[in-house]
Amino acid sequence: MLNHRGMLNRVNSAARVAILLALLCFCSATSSYSFPDDTACARASGMAMPGPGNLLTVDQSGKGDYRKIHEAIAAAPANSSARTVILIKPGIYREKIVVPVDKPNITLFGTSANTTVITWNERWVSSDTSPTVSVLASDFVASRLTFRNTLGTSAPAIAARVMGDRAAFYGCSFSSFQDTLLDDNGRHYYCGCYIEGGTDFICGNGRALFEKCHLHSTSPNGGAFTAQKRASELNHTGYSFVRCKLTGVGVSTSILGRPWEPYSRVVFALTYMSAAVSPRGWDDWNHTANQRTAFYGQYQCYGQGAKTDGRVKWARNLSPIEAAPFMTKAWIGGQQWLPKQPPS
Ligand SMILES: *[C@@H]1O[C@H](CO)[C@@H](O)[C@H](O)[C@H]1NC(C)=O
Ligand SMILES: *[C@@H]1O[C@H](CO)[C@@H](O)[C@H](O)[C@H]1NC(C)=O
Ligand SMILES: *[C@@H]1O[C@H](CO)[C@@H](O)[C@H](O)[C@H]1NC(C)=O
Ligand SMILES: *[C@@H]1O[C@H](CO)[C@@H](O)[C@H](O)[C@H]1NC(C)=O
Ligand SMILES: *[C@@H]1O[C@H](CO)[C@@H](O)[C@H](O)[C@H]1NC(C)=O
Repeated sequence: MLNHRGMLNRVNSAARVAILLALLCFCSATSSYSFPDDTACARASGMAMPGPGNLLTVDQSGKGDYRKIHEAIAAAPANSSARTVILIKPGIYREKIVVPVDKPNITLFGTSANTTVITWNERWVSSDTSPTVSVLASDFVASRLTFRNTLGTSAPAIAARVMGDRAAFYGCSFSSFQDTLLDDNGRHYYCGCYIEGGTDFICGNGRALFEKCHLHSTSPNGGAFTAQKRASELNHTGYSFVRCKLTGVGVSTSILGRPWEPYSRVVFALTYMSAAVSPRGWDDWNHTANQRTAFYGQYQCYGQGAKTDGRVKWARNLSPIEAAPFMTKAWIGGQQWLPKQPPS
């Protein structure tokens, strides 16, 4: 972060089965779900995939429709109300990717986050041009992919910026150091994802639900898992982490969050926190006034780092009733737009 800064349509089932089979064959041997290994997220990611419309394949060996991911995005129809699924073969894709605002309904579907990697190495100069991957369109889905920025620790460096409404990520991995995931605007869902960084590594003014995600701090000191950017009480934004896992290097090296803007809102629920989480938990970013406006809470978290007795006085221990709005997909209106979970 700049420290100085201030479905599916009704599709006939034969077509759907054909697409699913194509997917299974495409992913075949190497396919294994890995981040974290959660079957609910894996099943949901499978559901995110099939659908009517276009199926494009990207394969560096030349056996697909395209060798680069950005070429497939360029080929996807604009303003489409049908989903375009881009299947990506394993590989390290060194390219910067923008999903432009007039390309809604795109799914990027990799094989596994370990094997299908999109990587670049630019510091944050402009949020419009610097991220490795920028999602400006609505109704975006990504599954089983890694978004990476390899710049290192010298400056903010965004791996993914999410600007479109109704975006969902399943089994994806995000890695950089500062400002890894710029969850900037709109409603977003992350299921079974791995997110790594040091400083403010999940930040922005989005409204997001993270379920069963693993957040890992690589900061040796002074780290912060989040810097949510809600500027006004009227903004319906904030991050909710449910059944997640927080780890990091060292002991007491990272806080849970600090307010990029005064009304910053972040809740951790039913989440494991290792000793990497500092006992005070939160910071006001050198503005005591933020203590009155920020909404930082936890609910039934566990692990050494979850103890609340050393927390800053203005952090909240939520009651079940206070926690309820943050606990389900209703937080992001997900009942209306997330793919339905298949029956188990
Ligand atoms: C994927 O990578 C992570 C981190 O390196 C590792 O822990 C995990 O075992 C890997 N999973 C697979 C299926 O290779
Ligand atoms: C998509 O829709 C927008 C808004 O209606 C329009 O400006 C744009 O030209 C359209 N794009 C294409 C490629 O048709
Ligand atoms: C995306 O596709 C769905 C289903 O076809 C459709 O209802 C929705 O309007 C599309 N979104 C956009 C922005 O076109
Ligand atoms: C925040 O709320 C204000 C007041 O309703 C509104 O003008 C502004 O556009 C909102 N900002 C965002 C990023 O939603
Ligand atoms: C907060 O203020 C202290 C003392 O002036 C300074 O050392 C520190 O860098 C400031 N922290 C931030 C995040 O600005």
